Amino acid sequence: MEGPNRRLPPKPPSRPDRVSLRRYVKLFRQDLLSAQPARLYRAWMAEFRTPFFRSYLMNQPELVKMVLKDRPDDFPKSDRVGEGLRPLLGNSVFLTNGETWKRQRRIIDPAFEGGRLKDTFPAMWAAAEACVARLAPYAGGTLEIEAETSHAAADVIFRTLFSIPIEHEVAAQVFDEFRIYQRSQPVLNLAAFVPLPRWMPRFFRRDTKRSARIIRRLITGLTDARRQEIAAGTAPDDLATKIMTTADPQTGDTFDTAEMVDQVAIFFLAGHETSASALAWTLYLMALYPEWQERLAEEARALDAGADFAVMSKLKLSRDTFREALRLYPPVPMMVREAACPVQARDREVPKGAQVVLSPWHLHRHERLWDRPDAFDPTRWGTENGRTCAREAYIPFSAGARVCTGAGFAMVEGPLLLSMILRHYRVARVEGRDPVPVAHLTVRSKEGIWLQLERRV
Ligand code: HEM
Repeated sequence: MEGPNRRLPPKPPSRPDRVSLRRYVKLFRQDLLSAQPARLYRAWMAEFRTPFFRSYLMNQPELVKMVLKDRPDDFPKSDRVGEGLRPLLGNSVFLTNGETWKRQRRIIDPAFEGGRLKDTFPAMWAAAEACVARLAPYAGGTLEIEAETSHAAADVIFRTLFSIPIEHEVAAQVFDEFRIYQRSQPVLNLAAFVPLPRWMPRFFRRDTKRSARIIRRLITGLTDARRQEIAAGTAPDDLATKIMTTADPQTGDTFDTAEMVDQVAIFFLAGHETSASALAWTLYLMALYPEWQERLAEEARALDAGADFAVMSKLKLSRDTFREALRLYPPVPMMVREAACPVQARDREVPKGAQVVLSPWHLHRHERLWDRPDAFDPTRWGTENGRTCAREAYIPFSAGARVCTGAGFAMVEGPLLLSMILRHYRVARVEGRDPVPVAHLTVRSKEGIWLQLERRV
């Protein structure tokens, strides 16, 4: 366990309690996290009023449960949230609500069930080995690790979904084009969280639309080719085949090409940015706590036995460490819903149409819930407090009906890649370049996450 005087993992500064709206919007644009006051780490609920919207942060386990688990239909996703993503994601499961969303989940969920993870494992293993090989030239020097974890997570998605590696011509083009899309979309970060007022015209920059079109055309090509392989009986048994051949048990429908393209786009977006961010932060934490790193490296010797799914049950420290990193640096720092009807929450009436914000970031570091909330301690999951908080105050993948489809997948991918990297390399801090967390669409570091890399002998 880390002693109380040990260095704490980086945390962004909070803003003063009261600031003008103009200043708030400015801070918000720069970074969602440092735009918030420190009291949110202690509050059960907070209200924000602006001329455009009213929003309520719900930061108490009972309230989070009400929104996510007990009454999800009363708190749909606002169709104005995530607007910046619509040219790319169309009608994807991430953005839909109601019957359309339910139907989509009925078709997608079977592909991600626990039992299927075993089938996906060899593809993840291959991506982990490819990642270790890509890191080799950096041994003995320094590197920005987010770029590498991003590459590795994109590789995992393409290999598990379409049985192709990231070097495949189309996969590489999607990956590159996606970076262009993100750069061309300055309102993406803000619009993902703040619904713009209805009267405000929506401008998608020409290059954003162009980029979205290119990505969708590339994915359409992959999807069409797969449809033909399925018809010919030559399709590989991967996630794309599974999803495209699953019929909705209630209606008998399968996805048509356009709807499948929407889903592939979200698997790519939701599945690679998030995992990449989590893995990069975990590696940085390993650099900050070398004694933990050595324990994980020792545990990772289990990988020498080869690609067998059973090894995952041996990577316990790796899993606890990855969970702890997801607590301290939840890749999705905040989630927004809309109250579909007036709701009573604590002593307040939340009006219909108000925004309801859930903040994994604040809940995971809540000072009234967690023991030593800002400390890195993977052993906490074995304590009474850790177990209670894991159930009630830990939502890196959200919870309830709309829980992340890829949660089980990510909890295999993350610890596997982490252990595989630490089996082959030792990571260390780069003096003067410790990361500062900032939240845009995912929690990233302001100037990347820099590490020194050394090969283990
Ligand atoms: C560490 C990795 C990951 C984290 C932390 C994460 C987190 C989340 C969170 C918090 C949500 C809910 C967002 C909201 O309701 O506003 C979500 C939704 C989703 N995630 Fe993940 N995710 C991860 C990996 C993945 C992977 C690997 C996939 C797919 C291959 C995936 C696919 C999805 C999809 C499709 C949704 C939308 C579900 C719905 O709205 O019904 N995620 N994820």
